[in-house]
Amino acid sequence: MSGAPSDPSPVSLATRVVHAGNGPEGESGALVPALPMSIVFGHGNARGYAYGRDHNENWERLERALTDLEEGQGAVTFGSGIAAIAAVVECWGIGHKIVVARDAYTGTRELLQHLTEAGRCTTELVDATDLDEVARACQGAALLLIESLGNPLLTVADLRRCAEIAHEAGAITLVDNTFATPLLVQPLRLGAELVVHSVSKYIGGHSDLMLGAIVTNATARLPELRYQRANAGAIPGQLETWLALRGLRTLDVRLRRQIASADRLAERLGDFPGVVRVHYPGLADHPQHDLAARQMAGGFGAMLAIELDCDAATAEAVCAATKIWTNATSLGSVESLLERRARWAGEEYLPPGLVRLSVGVEDADDLLQDLSQALDLVGLTGAGNLVSGEPLPAG
Ligand SMILES: Cc1ncc(COP(=O)(O)O)c(C=O)c1O
Repeated sequence: MSGAPSDPSPVSLATRVVHAGNGPEGESGALVPALPMSIVFGHGNARGYAYGRDHNENWERLERALTDLEEGQGAVTFGSGIAAIAAVVECWGIGHKIVVARDAYTGTRELLQHLTEAGRCTTELVDATDLDEVARACQGAALLLIESLGNPLLTVADLRRCAEIAHEAGAITLVDNTFATPLLVQPLRLGAELVVHSVSKYIGGHSDLMLGAIVTNATARLPELRYQRANAGAIPGQLETWLALRGLRTLDVRLRRQIASADRLAERLGDFPGVVRVHYPGLADHPQHDLAARQMAGGFGAMLAIELDCDAATAEAVCAATKIWTNATSLGSVESLLERRARWAGEEYLPPGLVRLSVGVEDADDLLQDLSQALDLVGLTGAGNLVSGEPLPAG
């Protein structure tokens, strides 16, 4: 059912994010697209629009942009990332076996567990970095759901091989590309049929909108996805869609800075006595470092995890003691966020002191210094004033 991925554009992705989805703006020549708010359309209009739950110009603009950047054949936006995943499951997973990465987003695993308990599908969890395990699990499965970077240990699955294995078993592959973004990985080019984004994260980039999208190279799947959106009703808001497109314009500059800082943090945090381990695919000791270097173009992402040598309460105290990092769940925004992950159901298997970091666009040395003072404050050792030598401002 998959079409070939569209030919790669000769124009770089860094340029395309700035212009993707833009079209002629009528007679005004407006550079910034308008924000049409109407949900009602007169019968007989040239575009064939009928009602706001079925069509809307803002969605179409963002869908064109995401199709371009993922080099697919079409996209469907949804009211959130999880709504987009739920739509795929509803369309092609219900009544079947679904294979999902054991370290996929907790909300995805929870959804599948709930559907399994309700008898609507079966679910098998796999280590997506173990291709034999993936191959065994895909027998008799309809859908393989993996992520371009696993959560929260930043595991890297071989997307091309996973998609091949699923294809041979008659299953379709959905890759959640939220952590990597199309600037680093384009799963459709590696053989996946479907890509999902929580647009709420890097693409939106400012912690102020919820939105999701499916991009596909299988155009025959688009009508079913659109039907799901219109009739289950998980539609994106018009303002959110417009904001997502505005966020997209700066994705490349934001992400490049975030990656540069994440690289620096990964390297320096390993020297903090209170940090026992740093998980980051850019580090040579990451179990899939070589694969990540081949599969990810131009960087290893801006997410990392650190293991602190402490119990849950102390790790929570570290997260609460930072002044620049915000102790909160989510990722991909301009503000740096951190949180202890074993606080979440489904992630209790993690060490109690494992803290996930989403690196924002602040100064990298300020971020390091902030973590250092937080560790010192709770009695774990940071780097003292090794980082910049300057005390942080209070507050
Ligand atoms: C990897 C990943 N996929 C999907 C989602 C769900 O996205 P949303 O919160 O937009 O529903 C999240 C949310 O944290 C996520 O981290």
